[in-house]
Amino acid sequence: MIDLHSHLLPAVDDGATSASDTAEMLRIWSDYGFTTVAATHHFSSGESPEEYIGVVERAVDEAAPVIDRSELNVVVGAEIMLDPGLPDLLQRNDRLTLGGSRAVLVEVPFLSWPHYTESVLFDMQLAGFQPVLAHPERYDAVQSNEKLAVAVASRGVVLQLTYASLAGALGSAPRRTAERLIDQDLPIILASDAHGPNQRLKAVPEGLRRAEDLVGKDRLRQMTSEIPAALLADQELPNPVRSEPGEGRQSRLGRFRRG
Ligand SMILES: [Fe+2]
Repeated sequence: MIDLHSHLLPAVDDGATSASDTAEMLRIWSDYGFTTVAATHHFSSGESPEEYIGVVERAVDEAAPVIDRSELNVVVGAEIMLDPGLPDLLQRNDRLTLGGSRAVLVEVPFLSWPHYTESVLFDMQLAGFQPVLAHPERYDAVQSNEKLAVAVASRGVVLQLTYASLAGALGSAPRRTAERLIDQDLPIILASDAHGPNQRLKAVPEGLRRAEDLVGKDRLRQMTSEIPAALLADQELPNPVRSEPGEGRQSRLGRFRRG
């Protein structure tokens, strides 16, 4: 499995605070069966990309001994606050993408959905980038109207749902919204958005179980492995497969029919 959203490098942002945090996070991912994780620290276009890359490179150097000791492949990217200047900025500096690919992880504010969101995402696509929208299920606007996320995903933007949301660890609105989005034939990946060796990372196994209940093993493998791998390799994304949902959904339907 591949986790394309995390804050694993020490002391870059509000993520891991030390190399020992990083080591613990890598150990947990490895235990879960992940093979690749991306360090996607916060970046907004008010910052200098060169400065951000410098900070990230120093953090990679600091964490190099623990990364080398782990069996995980660590790639670097950023979680970029969406902004009208982003397509231009990416064309001038493509080191903010996920692992050197054309895929770019972007977020919008939790409390407002900027009016330029759709147009900037599509301008990114026109400029040859593949936007990945971080945690749509956590945005107020999407919780009230999931069609906002469905509309951009229908035009090729990848939605990144969060394991902890599916696990219910971030509250009922993110869980409900993630459950409604995950069930659709859209380009979707799952990621931890882990900020340390704690809650969001520890919720991954429960998030995986819930996801499997909802979409079945084959579709889950697409969301955890095949689509993230295609993104990193700049390959065409596989079409959503349909598979038998897991026990959870069957038993819920069973209860519904009986009721
Ligand atoms: Fe994040």
